[in-house]
Amino acid sequence: MKADPVDAPRILILASGAGTNVQALIDASKERDFPGKIVAVGCNRPNAFALERAAQANIEHFTVDHTRFGSREEFDGMLMAEIRRRNPDLILLAGFMRILTTDFVRALRGTLLNVHPSLLPKYTGLNTHQRALDAGDAEHGTSIHFVTEELDGGPVIAQAQVNVSKDDTAETLAEKVQAKEHLLYPIVMRWFCEGRIQLGTDYVMFDGQPLNQPLVLPDEPETSGA
Ligand code: GAR
Repeated sequence: MKADPVDAPRILILASGAGTNVQALIDASKERDFPGKIVAVGCNRPNAFALERAAQANIEHFTVDHTRFGSREEFDGMLMAEIRRRNPDLILLAGFMRILTTDFVRALRGTLLNVHPSLLPKYTGLNTHQRALDAGDAEHGTSIHFVTEELDGGPVIAQAQVNVSKDDTAETLAEKVQAKEHLLYPIVMRWFCEGRIQLGTDYVMFDGQPLNQPLVLPDEPETSGA
């Protein structure tokens, strides 16, 4: 049953670019039994296609253009004001390519999640696909984690893996990883809305228990004609 819209957790998404993850989250939120509501999509770039995706889904969207601010603190201050106005219970970073200040992250502790394209703790920061290739990794993937003061270092909730083949390039690997993100992030969004995930002192609580290791998205079953 659809949650009462008045009580349903309010979700705000922040993005910077193409927004394929934004689209996956929007699509998942349209499911009849989805227990939350995406109230807005915010971007730091006025031409981000993620804004267009929100518009097409009739979701409120806004821009805080980082190039108009003299410092990270001023940008984060304005972004925080825009977030607060919409009173979200959950904020999802979905390809949001700005480093956030410690004050900003602390103020949203326990309600701020990020998708990062690597199997954390491997490859924090940028160029994760090329770095996995350069290291000769057989497996690569994506992680959904709580955002804390440490860049890409907050407790990991869930991961999904992909096999690296010898023909992979950074581009093909990114495609494979993003396909997994589009499955995994909506699942984690739902879990949060259902009250199943919380941030403990420095660990994830899942269904009331500390999580010893990230949950792993199982591989899709082989389709067989049988
Ligand atoms: C995603 O693959 C996400 O993991 C990555 O940016 C991509 C955005 O794609 N995020 C980061 O690298 C954060 N450090 P999208 O705009 O199509 O969702």
